[in-house]
Amino acid sequence: MATCDDCRLPIERSLSTEKKRVLCDPCSSLHDLDSSIRMRPVERGDLELLLAWRSNPEIYRHFRVQDEPLNWDEHVEWYESRSDNRYDFLIRYEKRRIGVVSIDADDEVGIYLGDFSAHGHGVATAALEWICNRFADRTPLTAEIHENNEPSKNLFKRCGFEKSATDGDWVQYIYES
Ligand SMILES: CC(C)(COP(=O)(O)OP(=O)(O)OC[C@H]1O[C@@H](n2cnc3c(N)ncnc32)[C@H](O)[C@@H]1OP(=O)(O)O)[C@@H](O)C(=O)NCCC(=O)NCCS
Repeated sequence: MATCDDCRLPIERSLSTEKKRVLCDPCSSLHDLDSSIRMRPVERGDLELLLAWRSNPEIYRHFRVQDEPLNWDEHVEWYESRSDNRYDFLIRYEKRRIGVVSIDADDEVGIYLGDFSAHGHGVATAALEWICNRFADRTPLTAEIHENNEPSKNLFKRCGFEKSATDGDWVQYIYES
């Protein structure tokens, strides 16, 4: 089966070509929206950058499962033992690596832009719309966001997520395609 040159996921339906590249429909739509935004799987060579981003308290304070900087060995162990149903994508913007968008084995979606210079340009919106589109076959997708995290709540609502429940200070959102 053919794979997309950007996200490297299988292409099951119609093919779109841009120059000599073969893109899946969601990557092709993203390119039509903004050709400076591209998605590809996180690779081993990205782990140092991900460690730096995720060790920034301005990033990890928004994560429920992390309350201190990451440890390198545990970070590598996490990367190497990920479930087959989990996908982590590097968000590239203007040819720079600026963040990550993920879907885990329970269909929960997460996103962060570690490069703060990329905030406020709509890149996270495009990346979140892209992953919802790419994994439409796994809906409903979910997200869990701290009630004080206004940029993230705005982002997920903009992309069609709706509030479904609360658990203390955490708000659960659901996306149905
Ligand atoms: C959550 C996070 C990814 C959102 O980033 P962001 O820069 O606000 O999102 P976008 O890149 O889509 O930019 C949206 C902003 O740019 C503006 N914008 C400019 N051009 C835009 C465009 N073409 N499309 C959409 N929005 C655009 C929007 O109005 C919006 O600003 P507003 O919220 O003041 O209205 C970022 O704040 C982050 O990484 N936070 C830390 C980690 C985190 O909280 N992750 C989520 C955990 S659940």
